[in-house]
Amino acid sequence: MKLKMTSFERPNIRNMEGYAPGEQLSAHDIIKLNTNESPFPPTKRVGELLANFNYEALNLYPDPSSSSLREFIAEMHGLTPKNIAITHGGDEGLRLAMTTFVDPGEHCLFEDPTYSLYSVLAGIQNAKSLSIELNDDWSLPKDFADRAVKSESKLTFIVNPHAPSGRFLTAKALGAIADSTPGVLLIDEAYFDFVDTELKYNTAEIVKKHKNVLVLRTLSKGYGLAGLRLAYLVGDEKLVAPIREKTADSYNTSKLNQELGLVALQDQDYANNVWNEIRIERSCLSEELRMLGFKVNPSQTNFILVESPEPKINAKEIYNRLRESGVLVRYFDTKRLKNAFRVTVGTRSQNAIFLEKLSVIS
Ligand SMILES: Cc1ncc(COP(=O)(O)O)c(C=O)c1O
Repeated sequence: MKLKMTSFERPNIRNMEGYAPGEQLSAHDIIKLNTNESPFPPTKRVGELLANFNYEALNLYPDPSSSSLREFIAEMHGLTPKNIAITHGGDEGLRLAMTTFVDPGEHCLFEDPTYSLYSVLAGIQNAKSLSIELNDDWSLPKDFADRAVKSESKLTFIVNPHAPSGRFLTAKALGAIADSTPGVLLIDEAYFDFVDTELKYNTAEIVKKHKNVLVLRTLSKGYGLAGLRLAYLVGDEKLVAPIREKTADSYNTSKLNQELGLVALQDQDYANNVWNEIRIERSCLSEELRMLGFKVNPSQTNFILVESPEPKINAKEIYNRLRESGVLVRYFDTKRLKNAFRVTVGTRSQNAIFLEKLSVIS
């Protein structure tokens, strides 16, 4: 039989663009401040476990329900393991939310700008992407909740603290959105660890109060484990069960990931020291950038959205010239962000090199 088709892709896949990840250059002398990884290694306990890991046990499948890890996470949040689903990085958690709660043709709602993977996942599911443009200071427009009601969205994504601006929403503001959205509200807390301790709200309380809220947490940023691929979803049992029992792969979390994730989460002292260090560096870096004449958006994350003082020099040029000098930051070539770049908070010495190169350019 002769095949006439030139493409086997579903039409929506053929017509969509994939997610464009930040550059992952591996040259040793690159200062990599473009994808919001932790500049610090994970706790030493991760290294110790790896050194002593019983590789022979890898002949067997891992625990399909990641019981020990889920129990620990549940206790950390004051919830039960039924409220927790473990995922292969946060991106898998987002994909599972999309495939579990949204039918092709139904609506998803995001902020604009936001984490660009959301619309890609909607494209894969052949769902319709709707977005609500944020105010100039990246706050939500006052009528966000009303528009959420009208959108008939089956899945609404809010990143808190927000990427790429660093803005933070209170539990009250999130609760109002949860009450108004007709479908599931996914609160993406990928950067929550870095929020100032006095501002942090209790995630478990939101989840207990709002049965349509699903929260995403990842070990990629706050625990220095982006290379591992481990994250989790927190939500009402009725939201989490279909993911764990139906849409997630039975063995989506390897034995190694389950064990390494557990020791990383158990070392809360180390994690807290890292988060404090980042908060201190974030505030120094913000101040230095302001002194260089940049508009610096207040950030509760491990990155800063910096707007360049046009017309003196535009952000794309800054990005290119920093790149040539061995410092990678993130540039988004979109209408709203074209005069801004995002820089990850690095170690003190990385930040100093970045500032030195930037001061020569700007
Ligand atoms: C807003 C946001 N959500 C989720 C993720 C997913 O992170 P990971 O898949 O590494 O857990 C990222 C990664 O950069 C992110 O920026």
